[in-house]
Amino acid sequence: MDSIHIYGGNLLRGEIRVQGSKNAVLPILAATLLVRGTCVIRNCPRIADVYHMQNLLQELGCPVSWAGNTVTVNASKVSDNRMSGESVTRMRSSVMLLGAMLGRIGEAVMSYPGGCVIGRRPIDIHLAALRKMGVEITEEEQMFTARAVHLQGTEQKLSFPSVGATENVLLAAVLADGITVLENAAKEPEIVALCGFLTEAGADIEGIGSDRLVIRGVEELREAKYTVPADRIVAGTYVTAAMAAGGSIFLEEAPADQLGALLEAAEGMGCSVTINKEGIGIDSLRRLKPLPYLKTAVYDGFPTDLQSPMMVAMALAEGQGIIEESIFENRFRIVKELKKMGAEIETVKNKAYVHGVERLQGTMVDAEELRGGAALVVAGLAAEGRTVIRNRHFIERGYENICKDLRGLGADIAIG
Ligand code: EPZ
Repeated sequence: MDSIHIYGGNLLRGEIRVQGSKNAVLPILAATLLVRGTCVIRNCPRIADVYHMQNLLQELGCPVSWAGNTVTVNASKVSDNRMSGESVTRMRSSVMLLGAMLGRIGEAVMSYPGGCVIGRRPIDIHLAALRKMGVEITEEEQMFTARAVHLQGTEQKLSFPSVGATENVLLAAVLADGITVLENAAKEPEIVALCGFLTEAGADIEGIGSDRLVIRGVEELREAKYTVPADRIVAGTYVTAAMAAGGSIFLEEAPADQLGALLEAAEGMGCSVTINKEGIGIDSLRRLKPLPYLKTAVYDGFPTDLQSPMMVAMALAEGQGIIEESIFENRFRIVKELKKMGAEIETVKNKAYVHGVERLQGTMVDAEELRGGAALVVAGLAAEGRTVIRNRHFIERGYENICKDLRGLGADIAIG
């Protein structure tokens, strides 16, 4: 069965290591296309989205191999400019191959990446930015062709600090002619990781970590080895699990410096947080205090990807709180599933009004997307009795071993 079974109520105790970052490794794998040779990417999470990116790279003629969590990509030859519609629509982050293909062969034919349940997920900001670099884009129904005789560095400002659009501009700019100045760039840690890989391969990038990136095009990139940083969203998900289920855990390699907004909220709800260079400790030994107001924002605000897991913690707090989702237009789909478990939550447009309850009841619930699915796991850990979460495959897109990890913390959880 494609499900996860949980018997809730166990306090979480112990320590686990946090996996490599999905949202860092995907653009880095796309970036290996820019290197006429072999790159080695370490600490790659074995998750569906990475396997899917591997398939896309192989479709383009690049052999990809695994050894443990290390991936080797040989992009000496790129034999195609076209990705199959099925592959592209199945994973949104395939759009990152656009910038990489333009940088490598000056052309890409691909279908529009699918939207998903959390929002329409358009790519207008990506295409507008690439057009300013001299890319001609001709759009058909579902497909479009992007062509650049030569990519020209230019000064431009994104209308919104889109993570994906920032990544696509970086991938197109590192081998472009001249200098690219990108204002209002996204500052998420995944952008910093991508810049880390690109500079390791010889790219010339200034302003890394800021909202103003200056990229000087170079002739070519060299073979590189790079270690993917820990996944801040997986780490944050496990922090909310300890908050909701109670207990005392330590998350090895968790990037505390990237989770300030979450850890501040956790302390505000009565948890005690310890941070050291090995990771994050979180103790949640009494009923959570309410968090009156939470608004998601671009980095370094509260991450939208932790909004659903945090909603579960708030649903069990001793009071009410309001969540405002400011990044995606439809990211409250988990509410109806949490209400089946006894949560008291109402939504009006992009706000959710959460009234804390003492207990959630285990029952059958359906995951509909990645982070909502992970939040249902958090709810199952805290609930009384048995919770069965269907559509486990959504969760496996981003969590390498969520059941094994949580069992390592004492949870009664297994795949069904
Ligand atoms: C990345 O998506 C992440 N995905 C998302 O994580 C994350 O939620 C998001 O950044 C925000 O942090 C990956 O890195 C693979 P955006 P991305 O472009 O790049 C709108 C997860 O759970 N927009 O910053 O798609 C867009 O619709 C996933 O791991 C446009 O309107 O995010 C959204 O409302 C979910 N036009 C907002 O901007 C565009 O051209 C943020 O999108 C691009 C984006």
